[in-house]
Amino acid sequence: MKKKDGVATDTAAPASVEKETPTCSPPKGTKRAGHTDVVREIQQVESAEKVYGEAVSVARGIFSNIIEQTPPDITLCMNVVHKMIALHTANNEELVAMCEYSTPENYIYGHTANVTVMALLVGSGFNCSQDDLEKLGLCCLLHDLGMSKVLDVAAKKSHLSPSELVEIKHHPGYVEEILGNTTMGAELKNFVVRIISQVHERKHGGGYPAGLSGDDIHIFARIIAVSDVYEALTHNRAWRERCLPHEALKKMIEITDTDFDTDIVKYLIERLSLYPVGSYVKLNTDEIGRVVASNQGLPTRPKVKVLLSSDLKRAEQEKVIDLSRNTMTYIVDPVDETKLNLPDKKMALELKARRWWVKNT
Ligand SMILES: [Fe+2]
Repeated sequence: MKKKDGVATDTAAPASVEKETPTCSPPKGTKRAGHTDVVREIQQVESAEKVYGEAVSVARGIFSNIIEQTPPDITLCMNVVHKMIALHTANNEELVAMCEYSTPENYIYGHTANVTVMALLVGSGFNCSQDDLEKLGLCCLLHDLGMSKVLDVAAKKSHLSPSELVEIKHHPGYVEEILGNTTMGAELKNFVVRIISQVHERKHGGGYPAGLSGDDIHIFARIIAVSDVYEALTHNRAWRERCLPHEALKKMIEITDTDFDTDIVKYLIERLSLYPVGSYVKLNTDEIGRVVASNQGLPTRPKVKVLLSSDLKRAEQEKVIDLSRNTMTYIVDPVDETKLNLPDKKMALELKARRWWVKNT
């Protein structure tokens, strides 16, 4: 499988910012959403919410089944994987935005759904066939099955001791036994077990359990590894706070030479941009907004919906600024929306709720 395109550089960043002349019409690249846009956005959000909610629910079911000693329901897994692939194929970026949802307690359900969304996003850019994508999605949903045996250790609020770390590293090895009675055919089961066993292998052989390197690690495992680490870094855990997306990507770039497939990391950045859909940013106008769509090849110039005015009050009129067209406006900083001290408490609650509330679960 080959990647479709490389990462383009951002050529639209303004060299200098000139003073804007007053105008009666919205500046170039800024628009108030028309009825058709609003309806389309609502439809995209609703379908993404529904599918994402279903994915978290399936993930929860997988882990409950294990506790009850019944195998995961592969039909349910495949149904939700089909829906995720369909949304990615329709370029519904709201599905990626849903991956903001996370609860540090029981993080494994959201993590499983999020990794699946990310990996299918990457897989869809690597000329994977529908059949490949379905297998990739299934491997993602099942990739942390083995953690069910060590969840108490994984949920500890303190740093793990060396022996606890060893215990955690055994988790990929439990998958074969857990999948023992599933309805999957032997060939598919062996394939899934092989991929999951390689998710923690690293490019230069520094991973576990077998110390595989380079192309000996299956591309699905390489895609899941990158998605797994990105997801973990960008979400809170009981023992640490999350990084903002650009910080997480920076950390990953630092270790890409030794740990990850460079093309996969580049493609993830290209698809997510440095400011992924769903993240919050401060503009040079001091307004704060939520990224609502990326612009391919322009990782610092997505479309931003302005939500807060410069005095942190709810924006009087929601407007969407396409930063690829409005070159006078640009992002000055990513923002952790959960740490804003907003005077409007309802607004503050709305922003925080996006991180823990999941529809239909
Ligand atoms: Fe994971």
